[in-house]
Amino acid sequence: MSHTTPLHRFAQLVSTGDSVAPQGPVRLGVDLGTGNIVLAAVDGTDAPIAGASVHSTVVRDGVVVDWLGAVKAVRGLKEVVEARLGVRFDSAAVAVPPGIDAGTSKVFNNVVEASGLEVLEVVDEPVAAATALGVQTGAVIDVGHGTTGVSILRDGVVQASIDEATGGHHMTLVIAGALGMGYEDAELFKRDPANADLVFGVVRPTLEKMATIAARALEGQADLPIHLVGGASSLPGTAQVFSAVIGAPVTASPDPLFPTPLGTAMRRTS
Ligand SMILES: Nc1ncnc2c1ncn2[C@@H]1O[C@H](COP(=O)(O)OP(=O)(O)OP(=O)(O)O)[C@@H](O)[C@H]1O
Ligand SMILES: [Mg+2]
Repeated sequence: MSHTTPLHRFAQLVSTGDSVAPQGPVRLGVDLGTGNIVLAAVDGTDAPIAGASVHSTVVRDGVVVDWLGAVKAVRGLKEVVEARLGVRFDSAAVAVPPGIDAGTSKVFNNVVEASGLEVLEVVDEPVAAATALGVQTGAVIDVGHGTTGVSILRDGVVQASIDEATGGHHMTLVIAGALGMGYEDAELFKRDPANADLVFGVVRPTLEKMATIAARALEGQADLPIHLVGGASSLPGTAQVFSAVIGAPVTASPDPLFPTPLGTAMRRTS
């Protein structure tokens, strides 16, 4: 256990439902994604202490499309995390897609507040991911369920970002079409590690399209280290596809579903 990174520890806490006794003041983070809603709790040392996640249909392309569903999901996850820790939360940091307008950002705020949590901080998703990865300056490519986002960070601040509609959802559609399955079956088939080789072959053109989106966004940024996060980067070989298309090294995050939620809960040093 001593070699477990905080990111991997957090992934384990989400999947096992375990918790860790906190040291010092606790902090909660909320990541409302297109594919997953994840709550992360850290203690006073920013170490992960508990987490919970649920598959989501309440956000689409960075917009909350089911307000009541989102509130119920966040409230339910808050209660799960509280029960796991024996701690009550009355506030949380919330992650928002980069580059959204103030009105859309306010909706994310309102969801968290309607769930019984005062908003402590609104964090750009790539800043959250970079916090969990310990990155201050670099490019963060986030391949989520709905979109591929690319953000350039310098000294912990987003300088530029784009978000385009190709993500894990599109991979699932391609699998459903190619293998003659319904969407839900294709989604489960995609995530089963036993199918990774077959899936990778089928979705490779989709990954190349995501990589092309990233390459365009990264033109003229050759000096920056490039980090890959988001659940749709889970398939082995994904970073190599991105690296080949971009023409520069790309570092895949382990446990790529979790940098954004964990980093949302963590405190910013800059
Ligand atoms: N083992 C896996 N192999 C392939 N894809 C996976 C795996 N695990 C999760 N995914 C995919 O990751 C996607 C969800 O990733 P993530 O939670 O980062 O997205 P999100 O934050 O909810 O979406 P967005 O950022 O687009 O709003 C889904 O498409 C899911 O199918
Ligand atoms: Mg996301």
